[in-house]
Order: sequence, then structure tokens, then C-alpha cells
Amino acid sequence: MQKYIVKAKRAGKKIGFVPTLGALHEGHLSLIRRARKENDLVVVSIFVNPIQFGPKEDFKKYPRPLAKDRRLAKSAGADVIFNPSAEEMYPSGYQTYVEVGKLAEGLCGAARPGHFRGVATVVAKLFNVVSADKAYFGQKDYQQVQVIKQMVEDLNIPVQVVICPIVREKDGLAMSSRNQYLSPEERISATCLSEALKVAKAMISSGIKDAIKIKKEMRNIIESNLLGRVDYIEIVNAENLEPVQKMQGRVTIALAVFIGKTRLIDNMVIG
Ligand code: PAF
Repeated sequence: MQKYIVKAKRAGKKIGFVPTLGALHEGHLSLIRRARKENDLVVVSIFVNPIQFGPKEDFKKYPRPLAKDRRLAKSAGADVIFNPSAEEMYPSGYQTYVEVGKLAEGLCGAARPGHFRGVATVVAKLFNVVSADKAYFGQKDYQQVQVIKQMVEDLNIPVQVVICPIVREKDGLAMSSRNQYLSPEERISATCLSEALKVAKAMISSGIKDAIKIKKEMRNIIESNLLGRVDYIEIVNAENLEPVQKMQGRVTIALAVFIGKTRLIDNMVIG
């Protein structure tokens, strides 16, 4: 992969990179299409990164429909699929990890200890292998994008991080590879995340500034849904992810909710 990229760069090609865990959906395809528009060569990595999953999480059952993913990625404009094995990425004796500080501690970082260490490590490795000019990430994983941007800045990695909008189903559910775990009944309940965000936005538009009041209303919406269990609901400063008490400047409303056994996340940035 590295040799291939060196050659492409020597030929003056601009490289766009879309890192993924696979199980591609419209959200991923929107990133690939954007990369296609803005670059000469588009690389998509498909790697279910073991070190970003906790011991009780879904690493083993995470879907791996490789043939379908290849087809979808190519149809959206990918030139190269990079699909390394876990042994290639973490050979025996591997011992270097990337840990981003405060940004990685709250929200999903608190709920999934070690998750962002795994993400930052694999993304740093992928950036070294692919040497892209631009790398594309979805806003659905808002904290992940902030952590990666910080890592890129702190480690002087010469790549531009491009954040792309959340792609939603018609009923508002944010697209996610994990949506396929949902039973038909759970799938209906799963709209409670985007509904809670919509209500929060309406409250803010009507002039309500108190974060506690907004979070309480969001929690009511999730809890009135029999299959929903709140993991967290937070309103944070959109840059440093510190919780805010009053709506001021750019804030991100972020939530993680279990629908049955499936943990889903969603967010909205309010300017
Ligand atoms: O968002 C994802 O799909 C993953 O966390 C990433 C960025 C590909 C790292 O494994």
C-alpha cells in the first residue's frame, strides 16, 4: 500500500482516504463520493479494528460483508480497497499506542474506556500507510472526529480532515452499520434519538437556554420509549467538548442510547 501511494504521489495524484470498519452504508458512500469529487485517487480502508472494541462489545459479531463492501465502495468511486488483517496491523510484539487527552475522556470515552486510544492508534497507522491529502469522516461520530483532528494537529500529520454531514434514514435514524442489529420493533423505537434531538432544537429555537431543562426533556422522550435506555445525553461546547450549562456559542448535543442490546449514537451541532 505504501509503495503504491508513493508512486501515485510521484505521479502528482491527490489522494483522498475514507477509513471504515466496513459494513458500508449510505453514510460511508457519501464520504467516498465526496472523496471522489475532490481527489485523483480514492482509497477506502476496511478494517474491523480489534483494539477499539471493549471486551464485552461487538467485535466478534461486527458484520464483515467484504464482497458487498468492495462492490459498494467501487460503485461510489473508490479506486483502492485497503483490507489488512489484524496480524498485519498489530503483529506480535506490537506496543505503540496513541492516546489523546481530555477530548477523549467524556461522552463515549467515559462509556467505552480505551475506545479512543484504539481509534487514534489505528487512524494514525492508517494515515502513515495511506499518506492521504484529505481524509473523510462522518459527523455522526462527532467525538471521534474531534479526537482525530486533535491528534492530527498534535502529531503534525500532514492530512486535511474533512467532516461530512450525518446521513439519515427517511424517518430520521442516523445511518450506522449497527442499525442492522435492530429487530423490526427496535428499529421503530430507534427513531427516539433523532426525535429527542429535534425536540432539543425546537426548545433552543424557542429561546430556552438551560441545558439541564433540555436534557431532561430529551431523557423523557427516550425513557417513554420502552426499548430505549439512556447511556448519556450531553450538551457540550462544540470545540472542546466541555459540558455547558447555558446555550452559548456553538454547542453539540450528543447522546448514546441502548435500544435493546444495541448502542446507538447521534448528535446535532447548533451554531
Ligand atoms: O468510524 C469508524 O469507522 C472507525 O472508528 C475508524 C475511524 C475507521 C477507525 O477504526
